[in-house]
Amino acid sequence: MRILAIAGSLRRESHNRRLLLAAAELLPPGADFELFADLKAVPPYDEDDDLVPAPAAVARLRTAIAGADALLVATPEYNSSIPGQLKNALDWASRPLATSVLRNKPVAVIGASTGAFGAVWSQAELRKVLAAAGARVLDVELAVGHAAERFDELGRLADESLREQLQETIDALLAATQPRAIAVAA
Ligand SMILES: Cc1cc2nc3c(=O)[nH]c(=O)nc-3n(C[C@H](O)[C@H](O)[C@H](O)COP(=O)(O)O)c2cc1C
Repeated sequence: MRILAIAGSLRRESHNRRLLLAAAELLPPGADFELFADLKAVPPYDEDDDLVPAPAAVARLRTAIAGADALLVATPEYNSSIPGQLKNALDWASRPLATSVLRNKPVAVIGASTGAFGAVWSQAELRKVLAAAGARVLDVELAVGHAAERFDELGRLADESLREQLQETIDALLAATQPRAIAVAA
């Protein structure tokens, strides 16, 4: 079982990256967790460059997604929407549309923002984009508002109810991968 985590923020002290690392702590033994580290290197989408072989960072992104059983994406909210670089990376990942690495991939979207609402609009937009690309988007949401005050010194979610919601999100994501795991085993 392999979970690929993607943070929509590029900055070093990202609350969304912190949220993904908190999620990793809640995974059961045996579940592999990879935090995609190359988002910044993905070039602007240009159909003229969408060739074989793909640009190196795009190939790394597609390979990481293809090798994962499920994706966990944590997004901030930028002007009520998804950060441009995250949308750009998903545009690359969504091609070719019929056979893209996102097609049928179980995905859970979560988010954190320093505002009160925890990136709920951005999460909704992200679910829409992922569904348009053919991903199997879970009907879950985790809104971590006032994110600067939500993590303890060990990086865990300080709020018990948020931690429970994060655990439920992870459990739902793991459950969504089961049919595929059984199909592969059979
Ligand atoms: C360009 C920009 C636009 C933003 N727009 C919103 C917004 O519409 N709603 C919101 O709640 N926060 C907004 N924020 C605040 C971010 O959600 C906050 O900085 C968040 O912590 C960024 O995520 P990160 O900590 O993972 O980098 C914005 C921040 C930036 C830089």
